[in-house]
Amino acid sequence: MTDVPTRHLGRLAVSAQGLGCMGMSHGYGDSDDAQSIATLHRALDLGVTLLDTADFYGAGHNEELIGRAVAGRRDEVVLATKFGFANRLGEPTRVRGDAAYVRQACEASLRRLGVDHIDLYYQHRVDPDVPIEETVGAMAELVQAGKVRHLGLSEAGAHTIRRAHAVHPITALQSEWSLWTRDIEAEIAPVCRELGIGMVPFSPLGRGFLTGQYSSVEGLAENDVRRSQPRFADGNLERNLAIVRKLKDLAAAKGVTAGQLALAWVQHRGADVVPIPGTRRLRYLEENLGALALDLSPQDLAAIEAAAPPEQIAGTRYDATSLTFVNN
Ligand SMILES: NC(=O)c1ccc[n+]([C@@H]2O[C@H](COP(=O)([O-])OP(=O)(O)OC[C@H]3O[C@@H](n4cnc5c(N)ncnc54)[C@H](OP(=O)(O)O)[C@@H]3O)[C@@H](O)[C@H]2O)c1
Repeated sequence: MTDVPTRHLGRLAVSAQGLGCMGMSHGYGDSDDAQSIATLHRALDLGVTLLDTADFYGAGHNEELIGRAVAGRRDEVVLATKFGFANRLGEPTRVRGDAAYVRQACEASLRRLGVDHIDLYYQHRVDPDVPIEETVGAMAELVQAGKVRHLGLSEAGAHTIRRAHAVHPITALQSEWSLWTRDIEAEIAPVCRELGIGMVPFSPLGRGFLTGQYSSVEGLAENDVRRSQPRFADGNLERNLAIVRKLKDLAAAKGVTAGQLALAWVQHRGADVVPIPGTRRLRYLEENLGALALDLSPQDLAAIEAAAPPEQIAGTRYDATSLTFVNN
């Protein structure tokens, strides 16, 4: 296992790959806390510093779990969490970004995490009914109070990012970015680069699909959110598998896995890009970190992109309702 290099999100130094913790509490079926904590500890032992959670994941369970895992190791960790979804999973989406909610959400996250400050605090989704200036103004007050060190946005659009950054420097944008989700490349990533904002691609493995591990939804738990995602739906899934087969061939030629190739492609988007693949398992954690050692040539990158042309991806990345909350 190679050492995990450092990258910078704005002025925040983090490991070049973070660990997405969502699946330990939410989205991908039932989890085992002991297994999750073992994975978190192994991640820290291997030099992963950036841990990604949110108050929404498992309705607070995920933050409590991370809090338990980092107790006694706080200084080794860059803790990133998010606020904004005021509903529970399965209920109609309700996003809140008003100042009172921001303050209340932060207090609750600090309590669950068992820490006195959050290193990177994101707004999970932009509230369409509250000016971003109010939301980021309240987040900036948390920085002044020492409760938060850096600010981030998730799935914000280019114009919102500019307005937010004018209120207080934004350190990172966390948005979906992978071989099968490239919407931020045209307009949003260039604005982040202009403003010196780092980028944190979420679901860099396409919710696991790009690893080639999932050929049908049959093996997924009944409560796995992928069962209701358009790209995993009948018809779309089969077409998307053709892309994964090509990725697997390219990966085999390099002696790596399809997941490692997909992750390495994201890592090659730039030195200001820090993906956060999610896993509950030691084996996947180690495999994913192995992607950091992959050096892809321009020819490799072109071949990988040719295997996954955006127009051949079948299905949208979210359902129609959830899509109304992204890139805003
Ligand atoms: N800001 C947002 O709105 C937002 C949205 C979604 C996610 N996120 C964040 O981004 C993180 C990552 O996204 P994600 O978890 O949705 O998707 P992902 O990282 O693309 O994929 C995670 C899935 O892939 C599986 N997996 C991981 N490594 C693997 C490997 N080497 N081989 C085979 N399967 C592998 C995991 O399985 P196991 O879990 O069984 O190990 C899990 O089912 C989340 O944990 C969360 O922190 C943020």
